[in-house]
Amino acid sequence: MRVATLANEIDFDGWRKAARAFRLEGVEPSQARFVVAGGEDQGGLFDAPLTAHPGESRDPVMSSEKHAFQDVGPCEQVTAPSPKELGPGFRRDERKKETAFAVPKAFVDLAQAVILHRSADRFDLLYRLLWRLRDEPDLMKVVTDVDVADAFERAKNVSRASHKMKAFVRFREVQDDQGEAWVAWFEPAHRVLERTAPFFMRRFTTMRWSILTPDGCAFWDGQVLTFGPPATRDMAPTEDEIEEFWKTYYASTFNPARLKTGTMQGEMPKRYWKNLPEAALIPELIAQAAVREDRMVAAPASTPNPRLAQTLSPIVRKGEVAEDYLPTSLEDLNRAVQGCRRCPLWRDATQGVCGVGTTAAPLMIVGEQPGDQEDLAGQPFVGPAGQVLNSALDEVGIDRDQAFVTNAVKHFKHEPRGKRRLHKTPVAGEVTACRWWLDSERRLVKPRLIVALGATAALGVLGRKVAIGKERGHLIALDDGATLMITAHPSYLLRIPDEAGRAAERLRFVEDLARVRDTL
Ligand code: URA
Ligand code: SF4
Repeated sequence: MRVATLANEIDFDGWRKAARAFRLEGVEPSQARFVVAGGEDQGGLFDAPLTAHPGESRDPVMSSEKHAFQDVGPCEQVTAPSPKELGPGFRRDERKKETAFAVPKAFVDLAQAVILHRSADRFDLLYRLLWRLRDEPDLMKVVTDVDVADAFERAKNVSRASHKMKAFVRFREVQDDQGEAWVAWFEPAHRVLERTAPFFMRRFTTMRWSILTPDGCAFWDGQVLTFGPPATRDMAPTEDEIEEFWKTYYASTFNPARLKTGTMQGEMPKRYWKNLPEAALIPELIAQAAVREDRMVAAPASTPNPRLAQTLSPIVRKGEVAEDYLPTSLEDLNRAVQGCRRCPLWRDATQGVCGVGTTAAPLMIVGEQPGDQEDLAGQPFVGPAGQVLNSALDEVGIDRDQAFVTNAVKHFKHEPRGKRRLHKTPVAGEVTACRWWLDSERRLVKPRLIVALGATAALGVLGRKVAIGKERGHLIALDDGATLMITAHPSYLLRIPDEAGRAAERLRFVEDLARVRDTL
């Protein structure tokens, strides 16, 4: 057994020198061992160290800078150290004498990432790969190979850990003799502090900051980035003064041009959102991204960091939304609606209420806006109007679950009346603002037939005012190839005071829905 002692857990240079020496000596992977100085695994009593001379503090092979792998284009040349360089005490097994061989650059890059993986056997895995590379120079392309796949997987985990660090590190303000500084405590999944710290240096160039982790610390004094020993959580301040600053940071550095909601969701799973101050901003940032992208293109480098309020204030108007910002799923859309600021209705609502149903639905039923109960439940048509709708659908044999049920306006417009919230009809401007979401739902669901319940729904679908009395029950061809039918709103039935009138109106409503069923 041969043992190489590495300076620390992420000592790539140390590993590569030792691995190179082992490989050229013909030390089989099962006989090579890499331990970290000061670490738990110091090798067995009888393991032969790579250090060949008693009394010399560092092994000549390990310390000889000349023998670092040299980058030669896409390959690295691995050459044998000379006996002189190896020193008098170093005995090479002459039977296994090697000539130089090339290592693909892809392997070196991969190894640099894998070294950061928090697994004890990562050095061995890399040495196995290095060992095989001489006889299998194309090994790195064999992605089905167990070791290659394992190494790529670990590199991916490391890369993900670095991304998460960029997203989740939160600085808190502290005062020291030089004034204000920022400190963050973070526990990365893998040893990515050194790799990721330059990102923070570029982001927070003008601030003094420290990132403390159990693996080590990074310090930026405005000039120089340095690294120090491991820290414990109690070294970082715990107070939350920083929240507003951090929100502002996120709001102003959020790069809309690179926004991919799917990616974002992956990077910052929803369960984390509630713990992070900036998470409060994410939905609205998503919703505004398209507009901000236009601005960024217009004024690329010189956008000043806007204050939080300014970032949130502009109302996103139709036409400003870039065509390539489209929700890619109903889930996406649902999340983005929560941040919509296209009109003021979001302010007083509990939440945005999007459509419910599958994208396979051939029928879309469009109401006006969520009511009091819908606003609380986050689902359309669950209150009294929903019951009228359900019973009429039942009567004509339309399964509500086969329809996509939504509203023209996604936030509940109301005014307080004592403890109650009274429904208020949205104005045309609000309906028009919200059409962007309805259009998105239509694009995702692509229903064959749309039923608009009432004038507001019809305005949302058609984009023009309609007189229900004139257009009710007609089949209207829409630009996207779907057909529209306009009928009354179930709440209208509920408001008719006399029972006979109500029954008559309900009958008409049911007749309209029967026509819908037949058209389907
Ligand atoms: N009225 C509507 O138009 N939509 C609802 O979701 C509930 C009541
Ligand atoms: Fe946006 Fe529609 Fe809500 Fe207005 S009502 S804020 S347009 S989602």
